[in-house]
This record gives sequence, C-alpha cells and structure tokens, in this order.
Amino acid sequence: MMQLKKQKFLIIGAGNMGYAVLNSLIENEISSKNILIIEKKISPKLKKLKSKYNLKIIKNIRSLKHKFVPSITLIAVKPNQLKTIVDNFLDKFLSNSLIVSIVAGKKISDLKKILTLNKGIVRAMTNTPASVNMGTTLICFDKTIKSDQQKIVKDFLSLLGQINETKNERNIDDFTAIFGSGPAYIFLFIETLIKIAHKSGFKNSKNMVLQTFLGSLLLLLNEKDSPTHLKKNVTSKGGTTEAALKILENKNGLSALISKAIDKAKKKSRELSKAN
Ligand SMILES: NC(=O)c1ccc[n+]([C@@H]2O[C@H](COP(=O)([O-])OP(=O)(O)OC[C@H]3O[C@@H](n4cnc5c(N)ncnc54)[C@H](OP(=O)(O)O)[C@@H]3O)[C@@H](O)[C@H]2O)c1
Repeated sequence: MMQLKKQKFLIIGAGNMGYAVLNSLIENEISSKNILIIEKKISPKLKKLKSKYNLKIIKNIRSLKHKFVPSITLIAVKPNQLKTIVDNFLDKFLSNSLIVSIVAGKKISDLKKILTLNKGIVRAMTNTPASVNMGTTLICFDKTIKSDQQKIVKDFLSLLGQINETKNERNIDDFTAIFGSGPAYIFLFIETLIKIAHKSGFKNSKNMVLQTFLGSLLLLLNEKDSPTHLKKNVTSKGGTTEAALKILENKNGLSALISKAIDKAKKKSRELSKAN
C-alpha cells in the first residue's frame, strides 16, 4: 500500500470498470491529487465523486492544463473505442508510465500496435464483482516488465479483489469465458431458484435464495471442505436432494450443460481475440 500512495494514476475510461478502480483507489486513501481521469462522458456517480474529492477529469490528453506525469495508466475503454484514445501525444505522455489494460480480447501485441506504444504492457482481465472489491483478476505481464514494477501492478489490481498471474496470454481467453462471464452464470442460477421459490408460494423468495447462497458459501469457506464433500453431507440416501441430483448430474444434466456452455464461451472468446 505504501508503494501505491507514491504513484500517480491515470485512468482512461471511467465507465463501469474504470469507475470501480477509481472508487477502490479513493477507498484506499489514495489522494485525489495523484489521480487523473480521462473520460468523455461524466456519469452522475462520477460527477458526485468528482465534487466530493475534487477529482481531475479531462476529456482528452490535449485538454490537460497542469503537469501530471502518470506512473500507472489503466486503460478501461471498450475494445472498439481503443482507437479513439490514440493521439501522437500519448506516447510521450505515457513514456514513464506502467500501462495496464483491462480491455477484453485485446492482446498485448494488438494494444502496442493500436496505441503505437513501444513499451511493455500489462494485460489483465477481471469481472464485475470488482466493483465491490471482490473481483477475480488474471494478470499477464509483458516480458519486459521488471519484478518491482510487477509488484506495484499486483498491489494496484489487488484493490479490486483476488489476483492471479499467468505467463501464457492465451489463458486470458479461457479466463474470460469462465470467470469474466462467471457472475452471469451464477446470477442465472439465482434467478432460476428465485422464480421456482416464488412459484411455490414463498413471498420472501429473493432473500431466501440469497441467504441459501451466502450461507452455502460461508459454510464452504469455514469448513475448508471440498464442495463435493459438503454436497455429500446434504444428500441422504433415498432423500429429496438425491432425487434432484440424479437429474442434475446425469449425462445431459446441469454439469454437462455448464461444461458445454463454457466450451462455447471459450470458443467465442478465442474467436473475438483473433478477430481483433
Ligand atoms: N464489464 C466487465 O465484466 C468487464 C470485465 C473486465 C474487463 N472489462 C473491459 O473493461 C473495459 C471497460 O468496460 P466497461 O464495462 O467499464 O465499459 P464502459 O462502461 O463503456 O466504460 C468505458 C468508458 O470510457 C469512455 N471512453 C471511451 N473512449 C474514450 C476516449 N477516447 N476518451 C475518454 N473516454 C472514453 C466511454 O465513454 P462513452 O460511453 O461516451 O463512449 C465510457 O464511459 C472494456 O474493454 C471491457 O472489455 C469489462
């Protein structure tokens, strides 16, 4: 953390993800003097944060009036917007900065080409729970990034939750399919249970389902036991759970379906990555 307090952060694109990063910087008492945001559209929540902390927000690098030398730059625009941040001033402006991209599907080599940057780039992928500091993030460092710089980036991205590292950039495609999209799979399961509980006449169905999820997760964390073991504990011979699991776990059941769905997502993720 001490190291992070000494950094100067530039965030390009403060939409959903950029805002989450900005928020976690502020929550961790990084001075707003050390943060610069480039964002063309200021959302109401960004406006609120700006006035509360006196944040500096500019529309593009050219509109920067005061000297600001970023040591860490986060690129958080949509993949198709990357070209719009290119400016021949960018290379000079970022010459002393570590560059971290969370842009989905854009390889380090693509980023260098599009941004015409001739320096090491860190590519990371995270997921939406990052907005409540419970993200799961995978980081891939360009070979030229030194270990002390890697440490700073890891501390930075740890503000969003759990971090993991890979040496193989291709793993990011699979990560995107499993963990990037992961919250949607979990929300689908929750949504389905809520609908079923509601149909069965439970008025408090949403809270009941959320409590069951949260309770099961805490049990898993507290018991330090495997999900397989805990599942077995709920399943008595000839009982209700066993009857349901027989369907969920048969060869066309939920496990097979999840596998099939994620295989499709992996394929899509690789295709999108190649198409760039
Ligand atoms: N959502 C996820 O789960 C997730 C997870 C990991 C990574 N990502 C990646 O994170 C990136 C951001 O996603 P997001 O959901 O945060 O998108 P978003 O909400 O659309 O945020 C991007 C922001 O950047 C602004 N912007 C675009 N071009 C700009 C420019 N040239 N100068 C200044 N500001 C500019 C956009 O403004 P306008 O809206 O006016 O264009 C928008 O406010 C994407 O590449 C995505 O793939 C997303």
